[in-house]
Amino acid sequence: MNRKLLQDKVAIVTGAGRGLGEAVARAYAAEGARVVVSDIDAQAARQVADSLAGAVAVPCDVRVPAQVEALVAEAVRLHGRLDIMVPNAGIARVAPLVATSYADWREVTSVNLDGVFLCIRYAAPAIIAAGGGSIINMASVTAKAACALIGSYAAAKAGVVSLTQTAAVELRAHNVRVNAILPGFIDTELVTSHIAEFEAQLKLPDFGAVVRQRQGRYGRVEEVAALAVFLASDRSSFSNGSGFVLDGGVSSSLL
Ligand SMILES: NC(=O)c1ccc[n+]([C@@H]2O[C@H](COP(=O)([O-])OP(=O)(O)OC[C@H]3O[C@@H](n4cnc5c(N)ncnc54)[C@H](O)[C@@H]3O)[C@@H](O)[C@H]2O)c1
Repeated sequence: MNRKLLQDKVAIVTGAGRGLGEAVARAYAAEGARVVVSDIDAQAARQVADSLAGAVAVPCDVRVPAQVEALVAEAVRLHGRLDIMVPNAGIARVAPLVATSYADWREVTSVNLDGVFLCIRYAAPAIIAAGGGSIINMASVTAKAACALIGSYAAAKAGVVSLTQTAAVELRAHNVRVNAILPGFIDTELVTSHIAEFEAQLKLPDFGAVVRQRQGRYGRVEEVAALAVFLASDRSSFSNGSGFVLDGGVSSSLL
């Protein structure tokens, strides 16, 4: 019988109550992992976990150090080990920099950047104790190329790419690989719920069509999840400290 790619691995996915995180949790479970489905929205996490074999839900707000520490501790208490961490939780606020309140800046950077730091900070020792494993940070192509109105988000994601590199170098000797995924526009609530704001503020009546034209189409969550499986598995054994762009080619084209 073919062994599944993540057979018996223990994985935490944050922000897994919907969207990309949910798709990653589903793909990991399909590859045999025991997934800890985590989200600030406890009910959403429970619904996803209930639909997956071997999964449990553990709520966590990634902005809160004690909650992230407790999330890792709970995964280890339940399964005796931790092999894979996916800091995926993220939010966006849509406004030009000069109209961004300090509170919004802090909110976006605390979820998208502090949250990733905390996940690495508390998960890495547990993964080292398990003999090694993989951390896959969900960054964004906006870390590399600007998109007006989401400057706080893009700055946080650029920070995630930098954290990925430092963590990769520091953890390499412990057999822990750290990589980042940089998706373009993927069809999730994070994108669809903000389209109207982009249209109004950029005075572009069909921003969605512009995105689809530049990227070819919206990306699908399963396409991101497939890369997350690869990066969690031994098939990516020489990938470390890298940012994997997944954007239909938009960031490498002028028009
Ligand atoms: N959708 C895209 O086009 C896209 C592109 C690039 C990067 N990303 C990144 O992928 C990740 C997932 O995005 P998505 O599109 O699935 O978004 P989404 O809004 O559909 O889902 C995000 C999930 O994170 C959870 N969450 C929010 N704040 C949290 C917190 N403080 N603690 C724990 N969980 C929290 C939400 O409850 C939600 O379930 C994010 O980091 C996002 O920045 C998304």
